[in-house]
Amino acid sequence: MIQKPRGTEDLVDLKVREYFALEVIIRQIVDSFNYNEIKTPIFESLELFKRGVGQETDIVSKEMYTFKDRKDRELTLRPEGTAPTVRAILENKMYINENLPLKLFYFGSMFRYERPQAGRNRQFNQFGVEVFGPKTAEIDSEIICLSSTILNTIGLDNHTIHLNYLVNGEQRKKYIEDLKKYLKPKKLCDDCKKRMEVNPLRVLDCKIDSKQFNDVIDMKDYLSDQDKKYFENLILNLKNIGIKPIIDKLLVRGLDYYTGFVYEVKDKNGSTLLGGGRYDELVNQLGNVDLSAAGFGLGMERILIALQEEEIYISQPVSLDAYIIGLSEKAKQFSNILLLALRKSGLKADFDFMSRSMKSAFKQSEKLNAKNIIIIGDNELKENVVIIKNQITKEEKKVTFDKIVDTIMGE
Ligand code: HAM
Repeated sequence: MIQKPRGTEDLVDLKVREYFALEVIIRQIVDSFNYNEIKTPIFESLELFKRGVGQETDIVSKEMYTFKDRKDRELTLRPEGTAPTVRAILENKMYINENLPLKLFYFGSMFRYERPQAGRNRQFNQFGVEVFGPKTAEIDSEIICLSSTILNTIGLDNHTIHLNYLVNGEQRKKYIEDLKKYLKPKKLCDDCKKRMEVNPLRVLDCKIDSKQFNDVIDMKDYLSDQDKKYFENLILNLKNIGIKPIIDKLLVRGLDYYTGFVYEVKDKNGSTLLGGGRYDELVNQLGNVDLSAAGFGLGMERILIALQEEEIYISQPVSLDAYIIGLSEKAKQFSNILLLALRKSGLKADFDFMSRSMKSAFKQSEKLNAKNIIIIGDNELKENVVIIKNQITKEEKKVTFDKIVDTIMGE
């Protein structure tokens, strides 16, 4: 039998219902925050991610699904949503002043060739937001607030917010120089030995090595006075809305575009549910337009796993208003007409399409959690009635055709 590719997942039954319930809840919240949806292609030119995410990042250097099309163009299945969103706002000239702040969100599949494990797949789904225009502690705190509002709404209030502020410009160069000196005597894993050469900041949040970095030089001490003030202001803004982040000097994130605050939100088991931050240079880098930006990406599957661990269910249980059993050919034909009438009235109805025995049709109706069973046979048709069994009150009555909808609606 042909099996799904390694690192992919089929979402079926409860899982797919939970997935869409999550999407519906997020859509309601993000709408109340006044964000607009954007949909970008699943594949983009390879160049976008090389320039956008950074050549030396794990994502670009070893995790991308890149292929050539029939005209030899190098294309990549998107590994993340930020660079494509930046490309789209540039290409569609959405950054004009009267559009600002441009507050966008997206849902979509992302692709990374990673070693699959729980919560880490090669195809996974992200919800993300990107805000273009303002560079203020107020918008940063709105972004962080939006992510924690989502988690609180679905019952994952046991999350922690880890926050850091990246040093920039000349000060970053100085920090990296000092960091290299600090790291030099340490025993590092093979990956970090390479990172030391190409991207030393990334050594800090290495899962293997970071345990030995408790006394690492703090980026905070290298921030300019202006950045320091901005960071303090952000923390104050968060405090005012009841958010108390954990300041984590080892948090640097795995993508190269960040230039200010960076943050990750973890569940009670330490699994990262979402991450993001400010990236003020990316729009300029990709399109020569000066535009500040910040956002976050949330792993939909990670949230579903966290919900499952907490035994929280956010989807509605399966249920039907009415399940129709037709006992003869004529009754089945009539059922078809009745189904349409019920559905047009806004009721959720289905029919025993498998022509089961009465006993198994009843069993099926239980499985589908039908509130009413409608039984139609030739005798009923002759009398212009159907039998309705209310499965909640256990009441059974003969109902004329014109009263079926009202009866099911409980009127
Ligand atoms: P990221 O940290 O690479 O950031 O991914 C964001 C979230 O996507 C992660 O916190 C995690 O929940 C989920 N995720 C990442 N990789 C996988 C995987 N292999 N399997 C399952 N879930 C995964 C970004 O992608 C940035 N674009 C976020 C951002 C938006 N920053 C600013 N704006």
